[in-house]
Amino acid sequence: MTSSFNYPKAVSLVEVGPRDGLQNESTPLSTTDKVALVEGLADAGLRYIETGSFVNPRWIPQMADSGDVFAQISRSSDVTYAALTPNLKGFERAMEAGANEVAVFAAASESFSQRNINCSISESIERFQPVMKAAADAGIAVRGYVSCVLGCPYEGHIQPDAVLAVSKALLDLGCYEVSLGDTIGTGTPGSMDKLLNTLIPKLGAEKLALHCHDSYGQALANILVGLQHGIARIDSSVAGLGGCPYATGASGNVATEDVVYMLQGLGIETGVNLDALVAVGASSCEKLGRETQSAVAKARSD
Ligand code: HMG
Ligand code: MG
Repeated sequence: MTSSFNYPKAVSLVEVGPRDGLQNESTPLSTTDKVALVEGLADAGLRYIETGSFVNPRWIPQMADSGDVFAQISRSSDVTYAALTPNLKGFERAMEAGANEVAVFAAASESFSQRNINCSISESIERFQPVMKAAADAGIAVRGYVSCVLGCPYEGHIQPDAVLAVSKALLDLGCYEVSLGDTIGTGTPGSMDKLLNTLIPKLGAEKLALHCHDSYGQALANILVGLQHGIARIDSSVAGLGGCPYATGASGNVATEDVVYMLQGLGIETGVNLDALVAVGASSCEKLGRETQSAVAKARSD
């Protein structure tokens, strides 16, 4: 039976566990264990791995060794090893480390922007300009993130038009896509549908990715809505690792295992070996001394 929805045939997964996941784990993972995680993810078939971030290490000590992680990983030629960079200094550090791509990050909420990157939304866009120029000169592609697209820990409801304005600003700067961050995971299929109905006619589904944290258990449902709108790039974190240091109560991203399982059920290709991925998640959870947040991994271990 054919589906009544026009789902994408394939989805590219952006694995953010080594960055978004580990940046908010209270037990630090050693550099060697981070390297094993990144290599395990590549072996499991992930083709885009956000490997670390080059932010102020006083703000995010968990990412202080990102340069060492980049230096020590054995790389697969068909994998993109990306880094989060808030400013030119971060971009320069990412280039020294040999990152293949970088991501800049803005917010749809002024209060979150101030807490997360210590400047207003418009100042952040200005700060990204030299990064975009340096990246263009170096032939490096830049991804953009917008945080708080479906709610803010300080301001509550966020208008879709505010998300549209900052997403458009990032695309106009030269980002090749914008990843829409439901940073605190309060979005629902209803609010996601409304947001995408505002964004897609103006920006195009091919310019958008979804980055759903799962605090309220809505992430998979929200992603399904995105797929129905034609979005084919999904961010996720193995074992659902992580959270956000500037959003109290925000849990990790949706677990990559759960996204892969759902996509398999929809007949959508991901190129990921689920058994291998579950094993990578289990190994990292053991080292971190925490339980997996993946329902699929839990079901398989019973
Ligand atoms: P600032 O204090 O305004 O920066 O921070 P500054 O330019 O005034 O510099 C202050 C000090 O920071 C200086 O050092 C700089 O050298 C240093 P000092 O002279 O005092 O010794 N510095 C740096 N050091 C290393 N690397 C750098 C760098 N830049 C400045 N790149 C800044 C501004 C953005 C740097 C700071 O606010 C910061 O690092 N914030 C971290 C934010 C962060 O990593 N948040 C978590 C990631 S975002 C996220 O998780 C959301 C996402 O997943 C999507 C979603 O879920 O919504 C992406
Ligand atoms: Mg995030």
